Amino acid sequence: MSRVVVAFSLAVMMSCAGHEQSIVDPAGPQAGKIAALWWFFLFLLSAIFVAVMVFMLWTLTRRHREVEREKTVESEHKPPEATESKLKRVVTGCTIATVAILFVLIVASVGTGKAVSELGNGKKRLIVEVTGNQWWWQFRYMNSDPSQILLTANEIHIPVGQPVLIRGMSNDVIHSFWVPNLHGKRDLIPSRTTTEYIQADQSGVYRGQCAEFCGLQHAHMSFYVIAEPEERFNAWMASQLQPAAPSSDPVLQHGQQAFLSYECVYCHQIRGTTAAGQNAPDLTHFGSRRSIAAGTLPNNLGNLTGWLVNPQRIKPGNHMATIAVNSQDLQPLAEYLESLK
Ligand code: CUA
Repeated sequence: MSRVVVAFSLAVMMSCAGHEQSIVDPAGPQAGKIAALWWFFLFLLSAIFVAVMVFMLWTLTRRHREVEREKTVESEHKPPEATESKLKRVVTGCTIATVAILFVLIVASVGTGKAVSELGNGKKRLIVEVTGNQWWWQFRYMNSDPSQILLTANEIHIPVGQPVLIRGMSNDVIHSFWVPNLHGKRDLIPSRTTTEYIQADQSGVYRGQCAEFCGLQHAHMSFYVIAEPEERFNAWMASQLQPAAPSSDPVLQHGQQAFLSYECVYCHQIRGTTAAGQNAPDLTHFGSRRSIAAGTLPNNLGNLTGWLVNPQRIKPGNHMATIAVNSQDLQPLAEYLESLK
């Protein structure tokens, strides 16, 4: 009973919050079908709840009168014939109604699942491989031409109105890929590949979140899906495929030298430099992303400097080593990373 009330108030709060991370603010066909199913369940089950409560109140107020009337028969611990047959009819009717309602819910649920899984089938589409890591997301845009394969992290761009095939994998434990405005949850399981389509019909920024408890920083494992018109998406793709541009600015050159001389290169890659680590997010266009540490903080110079000084303080337990960065190198290093647009 209280669950329904909580769910309803949550839904109202979420639908009032605008274009926030929400299942009741669908921005694509899959999420639209899931939201419709959710509302159907909510209204049907709320109606049943109200009916049960009304019936209960009615019987409570009626009982006294009945007991008075049936006094003589009550001594035999047996209701009169007429009451007994009425009771049988009511119980049979309620059982049939319950089974029928459960059947309707199952049909609606299975039907939605089937419809959602079929969306996007057979169309020309973009394929993005998602790999869950403790606690960040690697995204790889697949292409038959290896020079057009793009590696990025914690943020994807997709063209509006087109299905995108998400191929999900995990590097360590079970994670779950979930963009509530676009689709339901999809588990990422080690040594298995799962697939689903997502599609956004409206431009916008949609926040996604890991939906399976995966360790200490599970709550700080989010990402952004940026849906934009096709031309803008193509321009983004073209710029992301470029290696990092060399700079003539002495501060940025200093920063790059610092990056390449510290342990950063063992884990991170910056295309266009000698840094080719594969254990952590690709940083080639780090400065173009909205957040650092998988949605933990907005991406700006101040937050990045704090992160470089002590990543364990901001996201305890994360796998980035705390590197003793020389105080003269810190500012140029942060500025260099931010310049990687
Ligand atoms: Cu990854 Cu929770």
